[in-house]
Amino acid sequence: MFDTIIKNLVRIKQDFAKNYTGNAHIQEVIPTSTSNQFPIDELHLKLLHNFAQKNPIYFNSFEEEISGITCTVFEGDINQYWLNSIKHGSSCQPFYPTWIMSAYVMTSVASHLGYAELVDIGSGDGRIAFCGKILGLTVHSIEIDDVLVELQKTIIKNTNQNFNPHCVDALEFNYSELELTTPVFFIGGLPQMGGDILATSIIDKINFISNLRKNTGIVFAGTNSKKELSQNLTNGGWSSLIDKHNLSVIDTVFLPTVWTFDQTVETPYIYTKFN
Ligand SMILES: C[S@@+](CC[C@H](N)C(=O)[O-])C[C@H]1O[C@@H](n2cnc3c(N)ncnc32)[C@H](O)[C@@H]1O
Repeated sequence: MFDTIIKNLVRIKQDFAKNYTGNAHIQEVIPTSTSNQFPIDELHLKLLHNFAQKNPIYFNSFEEEISGITCTVFEGDINQYWLNSIKHGSSCQPFYPTWIMSAYVMTSVASHLGYAELVDIGSGDGRIAFCGKILGLTVHSIEIDDVLVELQKTIIKNTNQNFNPHCVDALEFNYSELELTTPVFFIGGLPQMGGDILATSIIDKINFISNLRKNTGIVFAGTNSKKELSQNLTNGGWSSLIDKHNLSVIDTVFLPTVWTFDQTVETPYIYTKFN
């Protein structure tokens, strides 16, 4: 089921990006209704639309047929949020969102793998945590920037889905207070661009909480861009960290994000667990 959705999501993204003539700062697509190409729970799809409609970063939306599928295009602007997100001393990565549909797919994969809790590290506007919430996981949204956390609170109020924002520095936070049992951590940063600092800190903290390691998954957002990586492109640039911390890769999915909008290769999300 995920294979069908991923294949069709990448297909509509590529088609849309090739033909997009607008000039919005960011844009993304959500299929308007469920179909054979997008066999998604109807209520979930409605909630994904709701997240975009109630999110002030989007200022326009319209319907468009893309690759034979009726889709809703959302256009927005994150400039002000991006600028705010870099003002913190220990900011490891500025705000750039993944696509809402991608967030839904990647959290669905995590849920399918059996994780009960989702900790979204560097959560931006909270879309990954929002998707975890609608899938029934216990979620925690960890974000350093107060303006983004206020944005999350606005979305929570408008959508009536509380995805549990914590306005904290992920490098300082005490994760034992969350009383996690089988969590998956999503790391909101690319390797060698600050994401590795976030990931190393989280892994050290997981190791420190007794018995947590064996039930924990970590999902990394990788890159295939040689420009961004000086060395190893394997596992989206995360190979050395994966080896160093004795993790094993259990799955990899390639999904659209705002930062790969003009690229032909999507962002790899690498699912790992501790050996
Ligand atoms: C690339 S964005 C990812 C946003 C979101 N996870 C998504 O995929 O749409 C990275 C986010 O991490 C946040 N961030 C950076 N350093 C952080 C830190 N030390 N603690 C908590 N959040 C941090 C930034 O403010 C930004 O919102």
